[in-house]
Amino acid sequence: MTPAEHINIERLWSNLMELAEIGAIKGGGVNRQALTPEEFAARDLCITWAKAYGLSVAADEAGNLFFCLEGSEPKLPAVMTGSHLDTQPTGGKFDGAYGVVAGLEATRAIMHSKMPHKRNIEIVAWMNEEGSRFAPGMMGSEAYVGVKPLAEIKAVKDKLGVSVEEELLKLQDHLPNIRRVPLGREVYCFIEAHIEQGPILESENIPIGAVTGIQGVRRMRVKIMGDEAHAGTTPYHLRKDAIEEASRIIEKLYSVFSKIKDIRFTVGMLNIEPNVPSVVSSEVEFSIDLRHPDSAILMECEGQVRKFVDQTVSKCSSEVRCIAEANTINFNEKVIAVIESEAKKLDIPCRRIFSGAGHDARQMSYFCPSGMIFVPSCKGISHNVSEFTNQKDIFSGAQVLCATLLELANSENEL
Ligand code: GLV
Ligand code: MN
Ligand code: MN
Repeated sequence: MTPAEHINIERLWSNLMELAEIGAIKGGGVNRQALTPEEFAARDLCITWAKAYGLSVAADEAGNLFFCLEGSEPKLPAVMTGSHLDTQPTGGKFDGAYGVVAGLEATRAIMHSKMPHKRNIEIVAWMNEEGSRFAPGMMGSEAYVGVKPLAEIKAVKDKLGVSVEEELLKLQDHLPNIRRVPLGREVYCFIEAHIEQGPILESENIPIGAVTGIQGVRRMRVKIMGDEAHAGTTPYHLRKDAIEEASRIIEKLYSVFSKIKDIRFTVGMLNIEPNVPSVVSSEVEFSIDLRHPDSAILMECEGQVRKFVDQTVSKCSSEVRCIAEANTINFNEKVIAVIESEAKKLDIPCRRIFSGAGHDARQMSYFCPSGMIFVPSCKGISHNVSEFTNQKDIFSGAQVLCATLLELANSENEL
């Protein structure tokens, strides 16, 4: 039996469904935000599986969790796979979870096939990919590769004022006996399996996407500051109404950006003070998630946000901050080619695809040769409780991942 034939779809699917019970919400979705008790429980379940499969377990100080299958030359840099266990507050069963669970199943299959492999194969669950509780996301992978200091990450607080640092300490208490490994250990290559989160693979009936890159993103915060006033008595000329001005800005930005090809502009979060019906609002803060495949256009659009905010505020004052900035990246051509060739050997149709969503593989691409394997998302739906991928595609993705990991774990070539 080939390693890919050792992939057991019943186990893989039931593991995914069992994981989705942790933080399950109405409509079939999952709320398992970073460093919450639910996310700790998801880690526990993965640790139980990994130990049962004979993998070793380790963690680093950024809250990343690792499972390892040792190769015959364990001093060589490892092949790493994995994704994240945290979800959006109204997330689905597959975003992130698939990469971790498929990584475990693929590694187990390699072990059971008894095929030799030189390099260690590691599966990682990165800390806080989604960034909805602690913003911005990708914290674990950013700390691992060193693009952001851990101290800066630890200082981030959620809406209730709880810091990442406090939750990381709780995580340490939760898993006191886990082996500690340093950040930034050398990695030969990183391969993340993930659902597409868009409609292309399904519409073309192709089960595998060999991902060529990830589009650039700006995550911004705009604050409009006015003054509280009585809704019944204050004449308009004396008001500084933060909601009125913020809504004009948002409307203008949607209208301007709707005319730019391939842009994705989203205002997903609004915080209003004091947020009561009979008081003119004193402050509105809103988020902007801005993405485009062309980094130059993205930079221009960021400038336009600043310009339109300046032009539109009149009586209020404003503040615009960019909290995360990333340009479009391309994955390693040799890694993409290995994914394509392993899919071909397995006779599983595969096409190249570009990622609209962000992933930890972006951070890893700054650090080591990286790539991603996509499987179709039903109707392209994601960040939604009804996110779904059918079992056949879940299976194909894990088979291609398994074959790709084994090939790379025996590779001595420079990628
Ligand atoms: C990741 O979840 C993203 O928002 O791209
Ligand atoms: Mn994800
Ligand atoms: Mn996501």
